[in-house]
Amino acid sequence: MSLKPSIINIFGATGDLAKRKLIPALFSLYKKKIINEKFPVLAISRRDYSKEDYLEFLDFDEKAGSYKPEWDEFKKQIHYLKFDFKNPDTESLKNKITELNSYCNCAGNLISYLAISPGFFEVILPIIKDINIGGYQRVVFEKPFGFDLKSAKQLNEKTSMFEENQIYRIDHYLGKELVRNILTMRFANPVFGNIWNADYVDHVQITVSETVGVGSRGGYYDNSGALKDMLQNHLLQILALTAMDPPDSNDEKSLRDEKTKVLNAIREIKQEDIVLGQYGEGSIGDSKVPGYKNEGSVSDNSETETYVALKLFIDNERWKNIPFYIRTGKRLGVKSAEVNLVLKKPETNLFKDNIENHSPNCITIRIQPDEGINVSFLAKIPGPEYEFTEANLNFCHPCLFAINSWEAYELLIQEVLDGDQTLFARWDFIEKSWKIVDNLIEKTQRIPKTFPNYRAGSQGPKPANFLIKKDNRSWLSFLHY
Ligand code: BG6
Repeated sequence: MSLKPSIINIFGATGDLAKRKLIPALFSLYKKKIINEKFPVLAISRRDYSKEDYLEFLDFDEKAGSYKPEWDEFKKQIHYLKFDFKNPDTESLKNKITELNSYCNCAGNLISYLAISPGFFEVILPIIKDINIGGYQRVVFEKPFGFDLKSAKQLNEKTSMFEENQIYRIDHYLGKELVRNILTMRFANPVFGNIWNADYVDHVQITVSETVGVGSRGGYYDNSGALKDMLQNHLLQILALTAMDPPDSNDEKSLRDEKTKVLNAIREIKQEDIVLGQYGEGSIGDSKVPGYKNEGSVSDNSETETYVALKLFIDNERWKNIPFYIRTGKRLGVKSAEVNLVLKKPETNLFKDNIENHSPNCITIRIQPDEGINVSFLAKIPGPEYEFTEANLNFCHPCLFAINSWEAYELLIQEVLDGDQTLFARWDFIEKSWKIVDNLIEKTQRIPKTFPNYRAGSQGPKPANFLIKKDNRSWLSFLHY
């Protein structure tokens, strides 16, 4: 693959994201020889660091392991610029970029990754826009893109000095291999694609369960909660890929058009079909962990939800009256992200009695961990009678591809460099997703909150079980096959 060289600016380079994800992702691209010395990285942050201080902060020498020689080469192209976002020295930024451009042969191409608080966008966007050194300009926004519909619209206004095709809104779930695999499964394989509809599917379950709590992000999270932090972006993106109709073609527009159509077809969600939760103290594995209200920077009487489960319907031909059950939460017993299509039982009298007591067939896309795809089905037990047992066809993704695996950020940065927006959220999707979430928040304000209502390390709040049980169905247990 040959990408056009570019300067990669990381605003907020001393943040956790840059250290844990962005720099390692760039280094992986370097190791894969997708980028080379013609892609200088300019780390920009307010800390008074030298380049050496910054490299020390990255603390990557040991982590590079056997790739230490490559890291030693790569780090030569990392540069550092101290930049005060409150009192910006625009000239020094311009000079530094111009200087890099003069020896990198990057034809003035600029990528600016904004891993900073949205509060600074207003300051930084016009400055970036103004640095016009002859090449393309692409701007990457980390989530959250706004904190409700109103603020997202305001933010979108602020970005309007750039064309939509210059804007890359990150949702890192779109870079996860098994999320991308949903389209391959559906549209490259009739074995799945032909039954991916209301004729064969009884219901769909989408689960993203996390064992982590809010860690050091209490201040942000307490103003956010599971609806805004996870549902508005990652879960609705997974839903859209799972539920969308086949796009007319493989281009970015058709694909993103179809995804937005799914959101537009979601029937208004009823208040009784929403369950919120917040974790109390408990244990994750052998470790005791505090309840949410005792996490740092969280208010003692916080009503912020760390868990949400809901049922929704998509009013289109493909999914008429098929429920989608969606849940996500922090400090649950297991880390797991899955899409499950639970199939209808066959309408045949042949094996009716033998089938009745068994679970229905289920197609599972295991996004993480242990990425893969599983199909459960009934197999005959050896012997004279037609007696059945549940069996699995299991595709283990890392077993096949471990050596060539791509981390989500690595792939997404590669796509930005390639100028392909397919894996990024388009404005109309973001707008509609905030409309949905604002509406849910308004409804849930009326629900009395007796938090905490689930123990850390459990499967979540009990009312989430009733949500699905009242339809004579049940959640598939985490790690169910
Ligand atoms: C982020 C959320 O977008 O996604 C976090 O802000 C969450 O709260 C994280 O923990 C989950 O990502 P992953 O890749 O660890 O599943």
